[in-house]
Amino acid sequence: MSYPEHLREQVERYLELLRFSQEAATAGLEQAMRYSLLAGGKRVRPVLALATAAAVGLQPETVLPFAAALELIHTYSLIHDDLPAMDDDELRRGRPTCHVAFGEDVAILAGDGLYAEAFAHLLERQSGDPQNVMRAAAELARATGVSGMVGGQYLDVAASAPAGADGLRRLHALKTGRLIRVSVEGVLLLEGHQEPATISHFTNFASELGVLFQIVDDILDVTGSQEALGKPSGSDERLGKRTYVTEFGLDGARELARTSHERTLEALRGAAPRDPGLLREITDFIANRSY
Ligand code: IPE
Ligand code: IPE
Ligand code: MG
Ligand code: MG
Ligand code: MG
Repeated sequence: MSYPEHLREQVERYLELLRFSQEAATAGLEQAMRYSLLAGGKRVRPVLALATAAAVGLQPETVLPFAAALELIHTYSLIHDDLPAMDDDELRRGRPTCHVAFGEDVAILAGDGLYAEAFAHLLERQSGDPQNVMRAAAELARATGVSGMVGGQYLDVAASAPAGADGLRRLHALKTGRLIRVSVEGVLLLEGHQEPATISHFTNFASELGVLFQIVDDILDVTGSQEALGKPSGSDERLGKRTYVTEFGLDGARELARTSHERTLEALRGAAPRDPGLLREITDFIANRSY
C-alpha cells in the first residue's frame, strides 16, 4: 500500500527543527513536548495538508507551517487523551506515554504548550496574504474547540452523544473528523479559495475521510496488535467506550468503513482536484491501514 513517504519525510524534517524553550528553566518542558512530537506517528494530518496543496497546484512546502501546527495540536490531543483521567493508556507511538515518562503535571503542560506553540508558529511563520492566514487560523481554532475536537472528546468522556447511528457519527466527526477536515480546508483558505463550490466539494471529501479515519481506529482497537499500533489495543473495551464496533459489531463496522471509503473517493472525484493522486493514496491508506 502506498503512502506519500516523501511528504511524510518533509514533515518529519520540519518538525525536528522546531524548538520551543528560550531558557534553561523550561528545557524540561520542551523535552517532554519533543518526546511526544518526535516519536514517529503517521503524520496523516500534515501530509494531508501538503497533498491538498499539491492537488490545487501549489508547492507543498509553502504550507509547512500550517501543517506543523496541525501535528503539534494532534500530538497535544494524544498526550491529553492518554492521561489517567481520560483513557489512561501507557503506550503511544511505541513509547511510554508522556505522563508515564515525565509525570502527569508535566504531560498536561506539554499538551498545553504544544497547543499554544502551534498557533504562534502558524501566525508567525505561515506565508501568504495575512487575511488568508487569519482565516485558516480561525478555522483551526474552531476545529479544535467546543464545536470540534475538544467538544468531541467531551461527548466521548461524558458519553453524551445522542443514541443511534447519527449520534455516533457526530461523535467521530467532532473528536477526530474535524481536525482532519481542517487539514484540507485550511490549505484552501490559506490560498484564498473562497468559492463555496470548490470549498464544499473538498469539505465533503475531508469530512467523510475524517469519519472513515475514526471508524478504522475503532476497528483496529479490536483487531490490531500493540506491536503494530504502537499503542495498546483493547483500550475502548476496557473503558466501555461507544465505538463503531460496539454499535454495529466488527463485520458491521468493516462494512461501514467500506461504504465510507467509497463515499470519500466519490467526494474526491466531485472536488476534481488538478492532481488527485496523492489525496487518493492517503484515502486508500486510511481505509486499509493496519496501524
Ligand atoms: C490517533 O491518531 C488518534 C485518533 C484521532 C484516532 P493517529 O492514528 O493519527 O496517530 P499517530 O499520529 O499516527 O500516532
Ligand atoms: C482520540 O480517540 C481522539 C483524539 C482527539 C485524540 P481515541 O481515544 O480512540 O484515540 P486512540 O485510540 O487513543 O489513539
Ligand atoms: Mg479517547
Ligand atoms: Mg485513546
Ligand atoms: Mg482509538
